[in-house]
Amino acid sequence: MGGGLLYMNGQVHRSVRGHLRTNKLMSMRIVVTGGSGKAGRAVVSELGQAGHDILVVDRVRPKDGIPFLLTDLTDYGQTVDAFYGADAIVHLSAIPAPRIYPDAVTFRNNMLSDYNVFQAARQSGIKNIVWASSETVLGLPFDTTPPYVPLDEEYPGRPESAYSLGKYLSEKMAEQYCRWDPDLKIFGLRFSNVMEPEDYERFPSFDLDPTIRKWNLWCYIDVRDAACAVRLAVESPLKGAEVFVIANSDSVMDRSTSDLMAECFPTVPFQREVGEHEALMSTGKAKQMLGFEPRHSWRNR
Ligand SMILES: NC(=O)c1ccc[n+]([C@@H]2O[C@H](COP(=O)([O-])OP(=O)(O)OC[C@H]3O[C@@H](n4cnc5c(N)ncnc54)[C@H](O)[C@@H]3O)[C@@H](O)[C@H]2O)c1
Repeated sequence: MGGGLLYMNGQVHRSVRGHLRTNKLMSMRIVVTGGSGKAGRAVVSELGQAGHDILVVDRVRPKDGIPFLLTDLTDYGQTVDAFYGADAIVHLSAIPAPRIYPDAVTFRNNMLSDYNVFQAARQSGIKNIVWASSETVLGLPFDTTPPYVPLDEEYPGRPESAYSLGKYLSEKMAEQYCRWDPDLKIFGLRFSNVMEPEDYERFPSFDLDPTIRKWNLWCYIDVRDAACAVRLAVESPLKGAEVFVIANSDSVMDRSTSDLMAECFPTVPFQREVGEHEALMSTGKAKQMLGFEPRHSWRNR
């Protein structure tokens, strides 16, 4: 990559490093894997607006004229080639949920891609990787009750599907890569269920039955807030392998959070008092280490 060209509003612009003239060091050439997907499109927009040069790497062509390379990340040679010249990798490509494909297909695609991305970055000398882990590592769909609420990063992962097992193992793999190289950063973002603004139309129907969304304790992440979290993570000067829960601050429900817990998970202890509609996934670590604070809510869409 390195052409430094970013399409915006149908016109080609030299990617606006000028946006960041006050802090030019922050402008990076960033490969966004999965940049054609739901989260990826918002991330490309967020990073582009922040003045970074973007290359989308995906096996699907992006719709809006962003520079891209059609790449299958399960192929190591393609992955190395796609990363040439990059300063940072935002790795979002994956089969994004359990049971879209047979388990072995999901596991193979996601695990092999994660390995190829971490290894190709290492071989290319790229020290800055942000990747999409998943809320599922927290134990979704909670057929086994969670240890406490609000959920956080403090208890060991509890993958309950082949999809989640892949995310969990990649979190562990990241720890080993960072142990091998103390200068490396691999930040895994445990996104809650990603929502675009048009998804909010169906939120009021969730209130009819608390069991519809109990599988993730009624949490979500607005795609624009997810993109902001990615930007903060990739711009962070911190090093090492870390995981962060990334969710919105409110639930998807009108019923109070404590009322929902009393009905669906009456034995699960609260670590602290929660607000009336407070989300049961805590983003305290992301706030403290990355400065992340979700700004959107389906309530004021
Ligand atoms: N959508 C959610 O609710 C959610 C929640 C938690 C975590 N995540 C994670 O966030 C990331 C993005 O999810 P999304 O909702 O945008 O998914 P998406 O399906 O909309 O986008 C994923 C993209 O990855 C690409 N891709 C998949 N396998 C590939 C491969 N082998 N080589 C190249 N490209 C490949 C697809 O073509 C697609 O464009 C994923 O890692 C997913 O597991 C998503």
